[in-house]
Amino acid sequence: MAFRTTGGGGLLGLGMADRRIGSDRRRRWSAGDVQEALLISGEIPLWLVDGDDRVTFVNDAAVRILGFDRDDELLGRPSHDSIHYKHPDGSPYPAEDCPITHATRRGEPIRIERDWWVRKDGSLVPISIHCVPMEIDGRMGTAMTFHDLTASVQAEDERRRLEVERARFGEVRASRARIVEAADVERRRLVRDLHDGAQSGLVRVVMALQLALGDGDLPGEVRTLVGDALDNARRAIDELRELARGIHPAALTHRGLASAVRTLADRASLPVVVEIADERYPNSVESAAYFVVAEALTNVAKYARASSARVTTTRTASHLVVTVDDDGIGGARPSAGGGLAGLADRLAALDATLTVSSRPGDGTQIRAEIPLSTATPTIAATQVDSPRYGIRRLA
Ligand SMILES: Nc1ncnc2c1ncn2[C@@H]1O[C@H](COP(=O)(O)OP(=O)(O)OP(=O)(O)O)[C@@H](O)[C@H]1O
Ligand SMILES: [Mg+2]
Repeated sequence: MAFRTTGGGGLLGLGMADRRIGSDRRRRWSAGDVQEALLISGEIPLWLVDGDDRVTFVNDAAVRILGFDRDDELLGRPSHDSIHYKHPDGSPYPAEDCPITHATRRGEPIRIERDWWVRKDGSLVPISIHCVPMEIDGRMGTAMTFHDLTASVQAEDERRRLEVERARFGEVRASRARIVEAADVERRRLVRDLHDGAQSGLVRVVMALQLALGDGDLPGEVRTLVGDALDNARRAIDELRELARGIHPAALTHRGLASAVRTLADRASLPVVVEIADERYPNSVESAAYFVVAEALTNVAKYARASSARVTTTRTASHLVVTVDDDGIGGARPSAGGGLAGLADRLAALDATLTVSSRPGDGTQIRAEIPLSTATPTIAATQVDSPRYGIRRLA
């Protein structure tokens, strides 16, 4: 309104420096003039209110953002009650509580980084707003420029959503790793209990039976019975040891990966070359690596028809890389429920990967890349510090 009626004053209705429209105007344009021209051209939403908080001018950009069709739908109406009358939660926003209205009435500038204005259809649009007191047609009023923050609010929401998702994903990964670690700890405990409990009980039985057999006066049929009992007790110890090895080999706990893998290689039905440094790794890493080698060597014996196999480990800055190669028939195909798929699941819980390369006729390579940092520190520390295991502290 003010702009339209001030004629030769151009933007002067805003109470800015006096300027004339004329041939010298171009010469005298300043950055401020350019900015004003942009406002009027409609690029930057502009909203003018008088001292009574009534809308006196809105440019096209403001009309557009607020979802109106024409400026005369707004001109003359109370500003706050037209576009600022509710909070984002839908509760009423009385003009008395509105800092913009107060600033307008007091003739003070105000800047609000995030506010919500109400569109014609009642939806809310996030804006930042800059209000400057100005003289309009001889009366004090306020010029407001604002920016639609919809895009940045959406980007911010998206960033927050991704952050929450990342955090959740991190928690899930950490908890999966903890579950694997807890299972390993439980396996070690079980093996220790078997060793200290049932196995040592059987060892005492064996010793007692050996003593009994040493008695020269033992009647023949009793001697036979005691001999059988001794054989059975020894077999039970062997079976118990075998069972414990399958659950969690004591060599792995006490002497580490290289030693445990050498034991596996010694028991294999074909020559197995082992190239593993005598180095200790976190418990979960050693267990994962061991079970990869155990499953791969079992598969070699069962399916590969190989003449030899080779197990290597390489330590990179971040990973332990384990490979098991054979020169057999190839064609290994992991499938649901099989040992290789189970290994892949176990490794995934540690953020490790399993790769099976096995072209028919070209041997098989199983390769696991296990992050060295997956061990959950509290549990690992408890284990490695425990004098019972006699394990030195791990890096
Ligand atoms: N080194 C290998 N050479 C040739 N074929 C292999 C080799 N390893 C695995 N395979 C083939 O891939 C299949 C999948 O192996 P995987 O270990 O996943 O399961 P599985 O050995 O059959 O079952 P499980 O491991 O539960 O005893 C095997 O059935 C076998 O046919
Ligand atoms: Mg298998």
